[in-house]
Amino acid sequence: MSVEVLSDKISLIDRARELMVEKIKSAIAQRDQCTIALAGGGTPKPLYEKLAQESLPWEKIHIFWGDERYVPVDHPDSNQKMVREAWLNQVSMPASNIHPMPTTGENPYTDAAKHEQEIREFFQCSAGEIPSLDIILLGMGDDGHTASLFPRTEALTVRDRLITVGNKGNSQRLTFTAPFINQGRCVIFLVAGANKRPALAQVFSPQGDEKQYPSRLIKPQGELWWLLDQEAGEEIASH
Ligand code: 6PG
Repeated sequence: MSVEVLSDKISLIDRARELMVEKIKSAIAQRDQCTIALAGGGTPKPLYEKLAQESLPWEKIHIFWGDERYVPVDHPDSNQKMVREAWLNQVSMPASNIHPMPTTGENPYTDAAKHEQEIREFFQCSAGEIPSLDIILLGMGDDGHTASLFPRTEALTVRDRLITVGNKGNSQRLTFTAPFINQGRCVIFLVAGANKRPALAQVFSPQGDEKQYPSRLIKPQGELWWLLDQEAGEEIASH
């Protein structure tokens, strides 16, 4: 596990850009493609805007989402909408390389199963296998959630699927499960702001409760990076 505490949000975003570009190029060098699952919320948006300025072989990059609010794609809360506007609309990435979570409005469980099938077909993996994405970018809420794995919810217990429904109060969401995230080759947390400090202390504490702080569930077989700004991570620096 690597932990980096950057002096401010601008430095944090630039370090995240640098790390993402490094891992994208490495994946393409090894497998001639890079599969990335993106986080939603507010922290990563400036990162996506910076990545849009990079010169990369976009046709070799496939974009997924680690979670999605169960709203139409044109809804202001849509993570898909945010990423397309901040990044994907600015680059020449083939439409077939973009794999949004379906939010048809029929039923989140049906859409979760549909997306799981789409992912299994993309990775050509059987029902029992868990595919590995090259990069999984995650945020963390001030309650310690990540993706849409919220404290003391059923989504935390799902072990036999890639995608499940994660509810935040009344708002329904689709989310990668912890086992799917943990199969990632390189998992990167991007966390900023003093409001995240208490949850971070619990996530990094030897005694923290993973049901209460679901980011503790993320123990990938591959690389785990925590990129923090000073406000969020000043007490974590020495880990
Ligand atoms: C989402 C995210 C979610 C987010 C955290 C942190 O859909 O909202 O995927 O897990 O990363 O809630 O959000 P901020 O970056 O806005 O603090």
